[in-house]
Amino acid sequence: MGELDQARLGGAPPHGDGRRLPEGVGLTAVGVALARARESARDDRLFDDPYAKAFVDAVGDETVAGMKIFGGYIALRTALFDDYLLAAARGGCSQVVILAAGLDTRALRLDWPAGTRVFEIDLPDVLAFKYDVLGESTEPTRGRTAVPADLREDWGAALTAAGFSPQAPTAWLAEGLLPYLTETDNDRLVDRVGELSALGSRFGIEVVNPTTTYRGDVSGFKRMQSSINAPWRSTQPDPSGWLVRHGWRPADAPTMEELHLRYGREAFLDERTGTGAGGLVTAVREG
Ligand SMILES: C[S@@+](CC[C@H](N)C(=O)[O-])C[C@H]1O[C@@H](n2cnc3c(N)ncnc32)[C@H](O)[C@@H]1O
Repeated sequence: MGELDQARLGGAPPHGDGRRLPEGVGLTAVGVALARARESARDDRLFDDPYAKAFVDAVGDETVAGMKIFGGYIALRTALFDDYLLAAARGGCSQVVILAAGLDTRALRLDWPAGTRVFEIDLPDVLAFKYDVLGESTEPTRGRTAVPADLREDWGAALTAAGFSPQAPTAWLAEGLLPYLTETDNDRLVDRVGELSALGSRFGIEVVNPTTTYRGDVSGFKRMQSSINAPWRSTQPDPSGWLVRHGWRPADAPTMEELHLRYGREAFLDERTGTGAGGLVTAVREG
């Protein structure tokens, strides 16, 4: 492809083998995959994501190196939401919807109860890249369904068209998403999630809590955000209160310290990237 063609198409150049790479905010998913690949290589790993390294290898880690500072945190948040989703599925949520799934491979790597359906929503280029690297089609298979959609638009229609049932209890997850959307977009998103949630549904969210303080130097991360034009567009000082206002009962909202203790990562406390209030909450829909 000539430079002119590339300029016309815009965005990142194709990888050597012709694969198009995620662009902009989609690249942040590669940063998360990098954290999961590094955690998976540890002897004392909290989870094993055998697919994560392939995504990083396909892109290279230079663009997302600024996210390494959050590696320990991302490992903890992955473990927390693995546990949350599996408990929800085993507790009766027959559907799982991962909002902005990115390169999350839970659909493939977690031991779901038979019959669980996992829907993965993200931007079309991210899902195409993901399943290209995995050597799979984006067609529904083995209980997982990719739903290409923009979560600022009418994604609910795309989800139901893909076979999602609002009548069945669902475990929802918004991990690594809400900070990249505006407050208005997030309010609209949580309302739509509520409309599509049968009683007994669960919702796991992550926000950037502005009261969290960072010990490490996050300037490399900020530079990365600006180089790929993916700034945080919102923060949320009271994630539990926000969920309550939208019809959810918070069930688990660990502080950063509690999170470290829960997963036996006390040794990480000195190198952790945040202290105090966490931005991770799971909640239940009770009507
Ligand atoms: C930091 S990554 C997190 C990915 C995944 N949840 C994880 O934790 O591994 C952010 C993801 O949000 C997705 N995203 C951002 N804005 C979006 C939008 N408007 N619609 C759909 N996906 C979006 C990006 O494509 C990217 O995959």
